[in-house]
Amino acid sequence: MSVNPVGSIRNLGLGRTWRVTAVAAAAAMLVACGGAGGGGEQAAADQTYLIKFPHVTAPSTPKGQAAQRFKELAEERFPGRVAVEIYPSSQLMNDDDSLEALAFGEIQMIAVSLSKFDRLTHSYQVFDLPFLFPNLEAVEAFQASPAGRETLTELTDRGFLGLAFWHNGMKELGSPRPLHRPEDAAGLKFRIMESDVLQAQVLAIGGNPQKMALGEVYQALQTGAIDAQENTWSNIYSSKFYEVQPYITESNHGYIGYLVAVNPQFWQSLPDDIRTGLEEVVADVTEWGNAQSEAINQKGRADIVASGRSEIIELSPEELAAWQDAMRPVWDEFSGVIGQDLIDAAIAARP
Ligand code: LMR
Repeated sequence: MSVNPVGSIRNLGLGRTWRVTAVAAAAAMLVACGGAGGGGEQAAADQTYLIKFPHVTAPSTPKGQAAQRFKELAEERFPGRVAVEIYPSSQLMNDDDSLEALAFGEIQMIAVSLSKFDRLTHSYQVFDLPFLFPNLEAVEAFQASPAGRETLTELTDRGFLGLAFWHNGMKELGSPRPLHRPEDAAGLKFRIMESDVLQAQVLAIGGNPQKMALGEVYQALQTGAIDAQENTWSNIYSSKFYEVQPYITESNHGYIGYLVAVNPQFWQSLPDDIRTGLEEVVADVTEWGNAQSEAINQKGRADIVASGRSEIIELSPEELAAWQDAMRPVWDEFSGVIGQDLIDAAIAARP
């Protein structure tokens, strides 16, 4: 595989200063040359392969649970040969930094929201189109379709080898005032993930979009730096947004899911049996995690109801249609960028 991590980083184009040290760059080049941490056949039989896997959500969330399960199964299958370190809740770094760190081989594995890859590929923007996926079954059907499967590995030569798609769930709208209709959102400052589609979505309902890392949202809501946000029940609960937001509209207007990716040089440097075994573990964890993500989100919803801190607004069919109508122009705005064929494939795959 001819991958140049330095070239990959240059091409990321995230428009910010990368915290890349000479040491990190040298380490990345060493890994690219089959040196540090691996070496295929030359690897010592007693070498332990360390997989650092930071992520931004709480251990209780669908991603937190799946990451922990991956650690347990991987270490159980390869005792003493594989060690997995999970760093949840943005403890080690935020998602933007983890994209950089993975491409440079400073960490080995990530599960980053598909929304946050939009400077690397336009394909994943399809997952952000509002109301394109009515539920997780529709997402899963698309991801399993030929068009969806093709997108999994399309970032390999940019430093991200996709192994799986993991679900979180559908997004809801948290707000300081009841949002029954899109007009109610006018003028609100909405925190969004790093995604131009989500930016357009908020503009379409008259809101003011603010891109921000997950770890900063609670405080921004508390201090009034932002008014509103969109996220899944499990994230809203575990990040305690419901404590500082009196209303949550159950809109299910969009999806949060993850690309589970590894550093391609690191992966190729693993002995064949370990690499294949870990790919089987990822496949098992994906099935296990995706099957329970909806239940975890429903538990988050129930816990929020039980807290009495936020009122949940259920939309009438007429109100829901108004949100769909207001956000629908975003599809046309991005169809040329994403590719109408990919949007059509997502619609065609709906169960
Ligand atoms: C977010 O930033 O809101 C999401 O990426 C969190 C997540 O589920 O990873």
